[in-house]
Amino acid sequence: MKFLYKQLLAFFLVIIVTIGATGIIFARFLVTNIYEEKEEQLFGYAEAVIDENMTLREVENGIDMISKQDVMLAMYNSQDQLIYPVVERNYASGLAPKDLSLLQKGERISLKERDRGFMNEEMSLVTVYLPLFNTATGSFSGFVAVASPVSGIQNDISNMRSGIQLAILLSGVIAILFSIGFANYLSRRIIRMRRATNEITQGNFEIHLDNFGRDEFDELSGDFNLMVDSLKNSQIEIERQESLRRQFMMDVAHEMRTPLTTLNGILEGWEHDMIPERSRKRSVEIMQNETRRMIRMVNENLDYEKIRSAQVVLVKQAIPCLATLTAVKEQLMKKAASKGNAVHVSVSSPDLTVYADYDRFIQILVNLINNAIQFTENGTITLTAHAEVDYTVIKVSDTGIGMAENELPAIWERFYKTDPSRKNNKYGESGIGLAIVKSLIDSHNGKIEVESARDKGTTFTIKFPKELNEKN
Ligand SMILES: Nc1ncnc2c1ncn2[C@@H]1O[C@H](COP(=O)(O)OP(=O)(O)O)[C@@H](O)[C@H]1O
Ligand SMILES: [Mg+2]
Repeated sequence: MKFLYKQLLAFFLVIIVTIGATGIIFARFLVTNIYEEKEEQLFGYAEAVIDENMTLREVENGIDMISKQDVMLAMYNSQDQLIYPVVERNYASGLAPKDLSLLQKGERISLKERDRGFMNEEMSLVTVYLPLFNTATGSFSGFVAVASPVSGIQNDISNMRSGIQLAILLSGVIAILFSIGFANYLSRRIIRMRRATNEITQGNFEIHLDNFGRDEFDELSGDFNLMVDSLKNSQIEIERQESLRRQFMMDVAHEMRTPLTTLNGILEGWEHDMIPERSRKRSVEIMQNETRRMIRMVNENLDYEKIRSAQVVLVKQAIPCLATLTAVKEQLMKKAASKGNAVHVSVSSPDLTVYADYDRFIQILVNLINNAIQFTENGTITLTAHAEVDYTVIKVSDTGIGMAENELPAIWERFYKTDPSRKNNKYGESGIGLAIVKSLIDSHNGKIEVESARDKGTTFTIKFPKELNEKN
């Protein structure tokens, strides 16, 4: 069954039960009211007629007064004999002995229905009875009966009934119209959400539902919008990953092509005996270099993936800066000297330490210093270290060719080289070095920054959190 119909059914049930219950209660209440009113009215007439020391004449006057009101009156003596209206035959009131004794005790008898008139004529009456006492002696002297035809009450009741029925009908129709409108409104909101969901299924993430914060439907719309946003972001991320993957495959293919072409060329030369005797040693050297380059590239890529996927376990320790920087300098001195570069080390305090994984720390330094050597000729490379409040800071500066401002953001990407012609250099050259450095620094919770100016030089600043901060 459709939600709309379910709601309508629920509304109808509630409306019918409510109206039915209130109708019944109300009708009951009104019927009792009508009877009570009648009783009061009849007692009122009786009291208006009866007075102390009443003469028959006076009673007749009183009766004249009330006979217009569709009311009958009868008087009985203490022996339960009709004394007014005056007739030949003797009629009794027909009251039970129990009621008679109540009257003798001075109590009134409230509304009673009877199906005979006072003189046994055929008619339905409602009657009240009032005792009379002799004012002189105080003894029971008879009672008065005041009656009104039942048809009067029944008229009132049926008038009231049709009034209530009309009210129930009207309010029922109004309530049903309202509930149809309301149920329609709710299901339209649901339909709107369904349509939006369908749009999303078809890949439209621009969809947005109105949210006025009024009710649960609005809350649902809000959640729906959040869901759309997050779906949209995942979609963007999927596309980004896909384009990264494609770029990576292209880069790898590109990087492999040059060495493989070189190898192939030399091998073909060998096959056709086209390599002169004196070049043979040299060509083997070239082949070795190219294969080593490829192996290095493959290893660097594997290393990068491992660091990125947090498969590398860092064994952090306090490393003395002065000794370590000096050792790295010694290791790379020859390479630097071959390009006419001098290397200086300057550490703010001989006790300064850096909290890092030793092998990875060396790897970072070697990468940065190799770059500095690679892009500097007849210049100076400076390694410095000092402490800040939360970090140990190490800088690698050179006086080489530098980089333009707009190149800086991209240098951390894999395979990025500011100038494609730098490709076939002896060191680095596949563009992975800085990507690895960045990932390593990230896994140390450190920071890396670069400042550079064309033909002035470059400074890489790396910051490692101090041991104290790392452990908290
Ligand atoms: N000290 C430097 N001076 C000038 N350019 C640099 C320096 N270090 C890095 N670069 C630029 O950043 C690029 C990326 O460096 P890197 O990731 O180490 O790759 P690779 O050394 O394999 O080229 C280099 O190709 C170079 O263009
Ligand atoms: Mg490099």
